[in-house]
This record gives sequence, C-alpha cells and structure tokens, in this order.
Amino acid sequence: MDVLLERDAELSALDRALDDATRRQGGVVLVTGEAGIGKTTLVRRFLAGAGDRARVLAGACDDLHTPRTLGPLRDAARRGAGPLAEALADGERERVMEALLEELADPLRPTVLVVEDVHWADDATLDVLRFLARRLGTLPALVVLTLRDDEVDADHPLQTLLGALATAPATRLKLHRLSQAAVAVLVSHTGLDASAVAAATRGNPFYVTEIAASAPATEVPRTVVDAVLARMATLSADAQRACEQLAIIPGAVPTDLAVAVLGDHVDGLPEAESRGVLDVTPDHVAFRHELARRAVETAMPGARRLALHRRGLEVLLATPEPDAARVVHHAVEAGALDQVVAFGPAAAREAMAAGAHRQARAHLERLVAHLDHFPLHEQAALLEDQAMELYVLGYGVEPLAPQSRAVELRRTLGDPVALGHSLIWLSRMHWWAADQAGAMRAAEEAQEVLEATGEPSPELAMALSTRSQLAMLAYDHEDAVAMGEKAAAMAREVGDDVTLSHALLNVGSSQARGHEDDTGVSEMREALRLALAARADNHACRAYTNMSWRLVDLQRFDEARELLDEAIAFAERSEQVAFAHYLRSTLAKVDFMEGHLDRAERACRDVLAAAVRSGRTSLLPTRILLGRLLARRGDPEGPALLAAQREPARTSGELQRVGPLAAALAEAAWGAGTDEPAELAPALEEARTREYLPLVNELGYWRWRAGHAVVLASEHPWALQVAGRWEEAATAWQARGCPFEQALALVESQQPEHMVAGLAVLDQLGADPAARWVRRRLREQGMRTIPRGPTAATRSHEAGLTPRQVEVLELVVAGRTNAEIADALVLSVRTVDHHVSAILQKLGVTSRTDVAEAVLRPDAATPPRPGPTANHSR
Ligand SMILES: Nc1ncnc2c1ncn2[C@@H]1O[C@H](COP(=O)(O)OP(=O)(O)OP(=O)(O)O)[C@@H](O)[C@H]1O
Ligand SMILES: [Mg+2]
Repeated sequence: MDVLLERDAELSALDRALDDATRRQGGVVLVTGEAGIGKTTLVRRFLAGAGDRARVLAGACDDLHTPRTLGPLRDAARRGAGPLAEALADGERERVMEALLEELADPLRPTVLVVEDVHWADDATLDVLRFLARRLGTLPALVVLTLRDDEVDADHPLQTLLGALATAPATRLKLHRLSQAAVAVLVSHTGLDASAVAAATRGNPFYVTEIAASAPATEVPRTVVDAVLARMATLSADAQRACEQLAIIPGAVPTDLAVAVLGDHVDGLPEAESRGVLDVTPDHVAFRHELARRAVETAMPGARRLALHRRGLEVLLATPEPDAARVVHHAVEAGALDQVVAFGPAAAREAMAAGAHRQARAHLERLVAHLDHFPLHEQAALLEDQAMELYVLGYGVEPLAPQSRAVELRRTLGDPVALGHSLIWLSRMHWWAADQAGAMRAAEEAQEVLEATGEPSPELAMALSTRSQLAMLAYDHEDAVAMGEKAAAMAREVGDDVTLSHALLNVGSSQARGHEDDTGVSEMREALRLALAARADNHACRAYTNMSWRLVDLQRFDEARELLDEAIAFAERSEQVAFAHYLRSTLAKVDFMEGHLDRAERACRDVLAAAVRSGRTSLLPTRILLGRLLARRGDPEGPALLAAQREPARTSGELQRVGPLAAALAEAAWGAGTDEPAELAPALEEARTREYLPLVNELGYWRWRAGHAVVLASEHPWALQVAGRWEEAATAWQARGCPFEQALALVESQQPEHMVAGLAVLDQLGADPAARWVRRRLREQGMRTIPRGPTAATRSHEAGLTPRQVEVLELVVAGRTNAEIADALVLSVRTVDHHVSAILQKLGVTSRTDVAEAVLRPDAATPPRPGPTANHSR
C-alpha cells in the first residue's frame, strides 16, 4: 500500500467509530473534501486495518448521465448471496431496506458499509442511506460515506441526507491538504523542487502524486489533465488503448464487462495497473482516480470518444442481460437513438420501481423528446409516467401538460378504461395545481367514459371516488358520502383495495367534519391500513394527512404528534416529497399550538425553502401558519405574509384554506388593534353552512373577540370562552396543552391574579401584541404594579413549561423512567422523550438528575432563563 501522510487523526476517528459499532452503537462517518484530497485512500487504509475485525460491504456511486438505481448497493452485494442480494434482484425498495438492516444487524461481527462518492448517488440510494442513518444507533454497523463537498450546492438532493445526518450519530471528517513537508516526502525520489510542487498543487495529494509519477519530466505540468496525459504517454500503446476505452465508462466497471469491452487491449491491463493508473480486482476495474478518468475522457477527440461509446454499447448489447441504465448512457453518447428508445423505458421503469424519481424523470424526459419513435399507446404511457414522476416530485403545474397530452392520445386509441384512468389522474393534477373547475371537469368525464362501458371496474370505482373526494374538499358532505359509498361498494365488488382505501378515506373525512368526536375515524384508519397493505404509498400518505389533520382539528395533539412522526418517516422513505412537506407543516401546527413557536417557525421555513416547486395549494397551510406565528410575536413580516395568501386562498375556493387564513388574519388584526378582516364573517358563515365544527368554534371565537355577539352550541373551549365560562375554558386549554389559548382564557377573568398569570404565559411565549393588550386592560382596571415582562413571567411561570410538560416534570423528579412515565400518562415513549428533552432545554440543564436539582433547590422559583420560547432571534 502507498504511503499515507498526515491522516493519523482521521484514521483513529474511523477506528473509534468502528469500536462504537462493535458495542452496538453504530454511526455514520462522512469523509469529505475536494476531488483528489485522499478520501478513497483514507477509507482503503482504514479498511485494510479493519478487515479482520469487521465485515466489509463496499460500493461506489458513479457519474453516469442518469446513475444506476441502487448502484452502490448492487456493487456491495455483488459477491454475496445474502438477503441484500436477493432483495436487490427483486428491486423493491422496502425489501432492500429491510434486507440491508438485516445484513447490518449481523451479531457475529460488526459490518462496515462503504458508499463512495455519494454526491453522485441516485435517489433510491440516498433514500436508503437516510433510512439507515436513523436506525444505526443500536446496530453493530458503521457506514462510511465519501463526498466531494464542493460539488454539493444548496439544492443538491444530497442535502436531505445531510439534514438527516445532523440528527443521527454522525462524524464528519473534512480532509485537509498536505503540508509542504508531506509534499517533500512524496516527491523526494524525483528530484523535483518540493516547494514548487507544493505551490503548483496547493497540497492536493492527487496532483502531487500525479506529478511525482510523471517525473523525471522536469517541468511541473500546468494542469492535471496535462499531468495525467503525460503519465499516459509513458504507457505502452495497449495500456493506453485500454485506459481510453475504460475512460468512457464512469465509475467501477464490472470485470467481465471490462474484459469484453477491451477485446485484445486487455493485455494492457496489467501494465496500467502496475503503473498505478487502474485498479483491478476480481469484481471491478476502475480508474484509480475518477479525475484521471475524466481527464482521459475529455482529452480524446470527439470522433474517438464516439467510436469508443459505440464499442461499449455493442459489447453491452451482446451481454445476456444488459444493464438498461448503462446502455442508455452509451447510447446517448453514441447518438444511437434506436437503443435509447429500446432501453429507455426499461431504465425508467426500473428507476420508478425503486423510487428513484429524479432518475426516472431524467429518463422519461429524454424519451418524451423522441416520442414519435414509439407506438401511440406507448407514447401515452410514457407521458403518463412523466406526469406522475413530476407529481410525485412535488411539482405544482408541470404534471398537467404531459398528462393532458396523454389524455388527448387516449381519446384516439379507443380504450375507454385507459382513457378513464388517465382522466382520473388529470383531475387529481388539476386539483393539485389549484384548479378546482378543471379537476371537476376531468372527474366527470372519467365517470361518463367509464360508465359507458356498462360494467363495474376498478377505474370506474376510482372515478366515483375521485368525485367523492372533490365533493369532500368542497364540503358537500352528502355528495361526498353518497359517491364515496358507491365507490367503496364497487371497489369491494371488483376486489380493488387501493380504490377502496381511497373511497373510505373520503367518506370518513367527510363524515368527521360535522362532529367533535371519533366519527369517521374508523373509516380513515381502515383506509390507511388498506393503503399500507397494498403498498400504495401515495394513498397511504393521503390517509396519514387526513387523519393527522383530523386529530389536529380535534386538538388531540399527543396523538397527532405520534401519528405524524410515523407519517413523516413513511413519506420520506417512500419519497412522497410533497406529502412529506405537507405533513411536516402539520407537525409544525402541533408545535405552534403547544407553544413551541421557534421550532414551528424553523419547520415552516425549512418546508418553504425545500418546496420551492410545490403548487401553491400545498404550501398554503405552511404560509398561513408561519404568517400567524410571526403575527403572534408582533413581527411585521407576519401580517404581510398573511395578506399575500388572500389571493391564492380565494382561488382555491376551499374552506380548508379560507377558514384558517381568516382566523390567522383575525388574530393578527386583534393584535395590531385594527379592524377585523373582511373574510372573517363570510368564512364563519360558510363554516356553519358546511357544518365544519372545529372551524365554526375558532372563527366564532375571533368574531366574538372583535366585539360581535356570537352563539356557539358546543362545549369546545373556544365556545366556553365565548359563553363567558373562562375558567372552564382555561382548564380545558391546559388539558390540551395550548398555553396561548389558555392565557387568553385566563385574562378574561377580571381578577388580577389570573390576568397576571395569563400575562406571564404570553410573555413567556413572546406573544407581544397579546401581552400588550393585557397590560392595557390591567392599567384600565387601575392596577398599578403590572409585571414588566419576561423576568416576572419566568418567576411566576417557572420555565414556561406547558401543562403537559409540568406533568412529565413531576414524574421525572419522582425518579421515573421515560417508559414508566409513558405508561402513567398513556403516551408513547417517543412522545415522552420529546417532552423530556424540551424540559431539559427549558430548564437549561443537560441531565435528568440536574432537573431534580433545578426544581428542588431553594431558589427554584427563578430557574435559569428559558432558552427557546422566550428567544425571538432567528
Ligand atoms: N494522505 C496522503 N498521503 C499521500 N498520498 C495520498 C494521501 N491521500 C491521497 N493520496 C494520493 O492521492 C491520490 C488521490 O487520492 P484519492 O483517490 O483518495 O482522492 P479522493 O479524495 O478519493 O478523490 P475523488 O474525490 O476524485 O474520489 C491517490 O493516488 C493517493 O495515493
Ligand atoms: Mg475517491
């Protein structure tokens, strides 16, 4: 093995991580740095030393136009016959994840999984890694990733993996350049001037070793391409030909393929290997360095490159089961359109099946550009696939164009079932793009076309269910339930569980709205169960979404949080990008209601930053929530953001958008002391006619706040407040864990001690406009010593814990474990974990023992200044 200089610290960090893994405290080590800095070399050295302590699975991502789906895992499993190899053959992502977990759980010895060059990873691989990262903590496994961090900008898909690593056990090793002393060692045998080399290479080991290898050329080559070529020039003709041929195949080339493609030039391999240009193993042949491959590739004249791609293509096509993505890569470069057309659909479908949506989209885009090479029905199918991938990736209006083209084609093809199916999706995509009328038109046409066939079918059931869904979204409960039940009956008749799930969800969601209890929930649960069992990810996400909205509507926040944790993990794993955003913003709503304003704000901003492409509709709840949160704190950005949502909410025409916006605007207007918003009264009216009870109560409360007489026939805390029963309302809000609302109820009391307690909570939350309002009231009542702000607030309200957190705190102090607390409070351990960490943070301590001390010490009335809730900085 070559010398390895100035990497001792990194090697021991890797060794430590492996030690941890041996103790079942697995983790990720991310080795980063510019091209040629020595990532691969470091990892190899580590593996060479770890080989007898651990089992190694290794693979690399490659720089294909459209990377191979799960390429690195395929590499890693190449030799094995274990569960991973089997799952990969099957190609289904969930199975791959399970199999990988199984491999990494091997109790006999720790496993090291190496994935090189993750900046080129396909979506499915990223997804698997993200999934793994969260689970490594208890596994005897170490995942080592290498990454050229300078190739990863802010919208790089890798960012979500890096985000996940921020909360997983992960170590980052950023490799630095070599010192001049190290450069001197590397060039010592060449007679070159070390300081000149160090200056020219700035200590990048690749440049340095290349220059050293091309000596005795006395001059320092000006560029690396020159360095590489100079080195190539010293090889025999065979070896050069071999390198050129391999240079057109990115990444590691399976050895059998390399041998086939090289033909007679295969004789050049040993020399290219011994001269350190290529690495040859029984599995793979690869350029020792990807930069060198690119240098050789780009230095070739275009005609030669073309000829070599042709040869690569020919050889691939002669293999028994050519890898479709590889074929497409060379076919594109060789201008072999017929092969792009022949293999493109398979490559696209493989990527779709594995959930590598970006790669699928790239393939489909290429194919759609050459649509006239396909028969008509295939054209329609490709357009539909393209629309679907865009939809899944969270694009707002973009799916409409290809889907409309597909529908037009289907009209000419005389297959009503296929046309109906395509129309159903067109309807969904219209809705997604905030075009209600278009959605309705397409759904009606679908129903018509399918009914004309005269027989029940899964497609007709789905058309009916789509109409039910649109009715549900328009709050036409009767239509929604009637159509939904008809759809469900037909779905049962034809044995289509996915459509049955869809229909039940519409029925349940619609029925739920007129009630303040569990009505409709069992249908929703069944819908979720069916969708999960059928592995219909998109449907499952919709069920998760509706169920969690419902729990939030019912203000059952602990349950909502548990469901959302599960739902978000599922949506991320299944790459339902738009749903993942939507669910995350629902979780932010829970945080908001529970008084975690900072966390809610962060989540909203993250979603908005990540979801730049999503349709306007899907981001409305996030924008409304963020606007409301900011307005609650008195931040002028809040009202402005809310005002900007008026237009999109109006065009959506949906009460589920208009209603929350009206409530948010009303709160902002109240805080600012301005007139109630024009949309408040009509929204309340509509909520009443549509019998959307949770909204009736909330909007009714704000109408009352604005000085109108309002009657609410409900026992909801908002209704209690309107009815003057503030004390009961305060208790009810406390039970729900909503500090802001609890405070607003408390200050309705005319008794100063209650008002001061409420004020303290508002101060704690940083709800400045509301706090100012209370102070004004107290002054009006003649109170002379009004608490001045957060200092007093912390005193009277300890560290600003929510009522639920106070309950948890008491049990922590009593020495109970999280599991015991979960039992006692009927919560999941996860939820308790979450409360406990919030408590630690608020008390400014780091361990449970310190909690007891902080609370029990004599001056406990003034614990340290709470961090998150009172901190407005962002
Ligand atoms: N610490 C080191 N000491 C001496 N030589 C090194 C060191 N690190 C790397 N090298 C040499 O530099 C060359 C490039 O290293 P390597 O291939 O590991 O870079 P890399 O970071 O993996 O690059 P890429 O991002 O292109 O994959 C290798 O030929 C290796 O021998
Ligand atoms: Mg490398």
